[in-house]
Amino acid sequence: MSAELHVHIEGTLEPELIFALAERNGVTLPYRDLADLRSRYEFTDLGSFLELYYANMQVLRTAQDFADLARGYLSRAADAGVTRAEFFFDPQAHTGRGVPLSEVVDGLADAVAGSGREFGVDAAMIASIVRDRPVHEAGEVFGELLRLRAPIIALGLDSAEVGYPPSLFEDVFARARAEGLHVVAHAGEEGPPDYVRQALDLLGAERIDHGIRSLEDPDLVARLVDEQVPLTVCPLSNVRLGVVDSIERHPLRRILDAGLLVTVNSDDPAYFGGYVDDNFAALHTGLGLTDTEHETLVRNSLEAAFI
Ligand code: ADE
Ligand code: ZN
Repeated sequence: MSAELHVHIEGTLEPELIFALAERNGVTLPYRDLADLRSRYEFTDLGSFLELYYANMQVLRTAQDFADLARGYLSRAADAGVTRAEFFFDPQAHTGRGVPLSEVVDGLADAVAGSGREFGVDAAMIASIVRDRPVHEAGEVFGELLRLRAPIIALGLDSAEVGYPPSLFEDVFARARAEGLHVVAHAGEEGPPDYVRQALDLLGAERIDHGIRSLEDPDLVARLVDEQVPLTVCPLSNVRLGVVDSIERHPLRRILDAGLLVTVNSDDPAYFGGYVDDNFAALHTGLGLTDTEHETLVRNSLEAAFI
């Protein structure tokens, strides 16, 4: 049993599925072929990745597309030994290009509903606010999710971090908490430790997604340890986005040794070189992760899950 708590469903859109959905939906892609598309998977930072990530979403149009996307991930997650998956989706990335939110939610919800039976994975959805879009959109899209009775368990916060502090989104997160939803937020990926504090104090975040820049602030680390706030860390993502230099220099062991409740996750596995099992394999090879440490990380994932 293990849980994956930090994966963007749009980040599981594999190159082959991009071409298949483009064909199905009559979308003309700006890529000659698969090799041409794959040659663009070199990123210098979060922004350079997000550009391709959002561009490729143009092939996602119908509920069937979203259901196929989620089923593909859930099947692959099952192969990785995942028994509980809490995945993000970015409503504004779709409504912003004219796709009705109901198509997104219906497709994902259909895959989630069948996931236990089909894949042996207990799945759940987290709607994530795209923080570099206009702030007023956050409240509007949240209201629409409520009207649709979208089966979400939590509200999250993602996309370009620096310059878009959690403090901008206090109102919508207060509404989410009032609705009885869980709250999580990306913070401390590229942004400073203060954004992690804001996520905790202003949004009421119960988990911090990434959070690795917290290590720069010993007082913050002490608080995260004391309160056992889970950090959902994504090692291959950190390397591919230049947040850390290499897997050999990844601070995961330092995070574990500090007593933080850290978990290992894939973030955007179609873009960063692998799913959660690939992340563990890289840690075993690059960091000499021990079986005991691996077991701790898996135990942490179940403890940090919203079950
Ligand atoms: N959206 C998809 N992947 C993301 C990441 N690693 N950080 C912020 N937003 C994201
Ligand atoms: Zn993420």
